Amino acid sequence: MTSTTQIPAIRIVRSEAMKPKPDPKELGFGRYFTDHMLLVDYTDEKGWHDARIVPYGPFSLDPSAMVFHYGQTVFEGMKAFKAEDGRILLFRPDRNAARFNISCERLNIPEFDEAFFVEAIRKLVEVEASWVPDAEGSSLYIRPFVIATEAGLGVRPSNRYLFSVILSPSGAYYSSGLNPVQIRVEDAYVRSVRGGTGFAKTAGNYAASLKAQVIAKKDHCDQVLWLDGIEQRYIEEVGSMNVFFKVAGEVITPELNGSILDGITRQSVMHLLRSWGIPVTERRISIEELAEAYKKGELEEAFGTGTAAVISPVGRLSWKDVDMRIGNGSIGELSQRLYDSITGIQTGKLEDSFGWNVPV
Ligand code: COI
Repeated sequence: MTSTTQIPAIRIVRSEAMKPKPDPKELGFGRYFTDHMLLVDYTDEKGWHDARIVPYGPFSLDPSAMVFHYGQTVFEGMKAFKAEDGRILLFRPDRNAARFNISCERLNIPEFDEAFFVEAIRKLVEVEASWVPDAEGSSLYIRPFVIATEAGLGVRPSNRYLFSVILSPSGAYYSSGLNPVQIRVEDAYVRSVRGGTGFAKTAGNYAASLKAQVIAKKDHCDQVLWLDGIEQRYIEEVGSMNVFFKVAGEVITPELNGSILDGITRQSVMHLLRSWGIPVTERRISIEELAEAYKKGELEEAFGTGTAAVISPVGRLSWKDVDMRIGNGSIGELSQRLYDSITGIQTGKLEDSFGWNVPV
């Protein structure tokens, strides 16, 4: 999607009180936020305007702001990394800009100029350069989002929006790090249906997933694996990741069908695999097919991919009374190679031969 929206230059209002930096070993995911945030307003009359970097702090919104009632909102997840040579690198921000607009289009939110999306984030990260952590496995997680701010309870698209970007120095998404996660296959609730919002990064998809996540936790699982919303047979995605399997030497992943997210790590994994001469097939995969492969001893590896999760090995898939134990409690060979390659490129340790990094 292209845009012709013109955005004025970004004003910077510096914070007078800088926060202490968190202990790099205790970062966790999304718990600490930097000193500044980016804000851009939208009105139907002015379009996107008044881009500014200001001290991080609460928003003041009318209690009837539409986002609170009808969930008209979209977000993205991206990362900045500290390279060994001191450079700060953004990973494929153009992909996030494009996906942001795809989500906005579905939620009837005015599109955002993609070049400005990248430039505004680059500028914010530049202002917050001292917050980019350099410990192994850490990064500055970037959360762009837009909310409908018009006051009123009529169900219709808002005529005012706020775009914001906040930054969070973060470690691994799962506290288990690279140890395999356990996943419960959800067979009652569904995440998305044909024609719904499954492909969009919008809050409602995540809100509707929480109940199943709580059930999974009770079953000693970290996350939920969703099945399709029609037959409840075909594998879609995991709560915060796309999913891949290696079955009898073949790498497979659910095809994009409108109800799963077009993950940027997913795209990058497929690109890497193909560049290594390893075929990867995007197709429908039923849970029965997977259980059958497991019984035959052919389910060799399973891993999730996501900006937050990077490559996350799956060690157990629990589906009704079938308990699939994958690998031997540690990360598989292919998953490890993909993790090393993606993080190597992101942190500038490996050559960025695909031109994925954008220096800040
Ligand atoms: C991401 O991987 O960036 C996500 O948005 C997933 C999750 C933390 C919601």
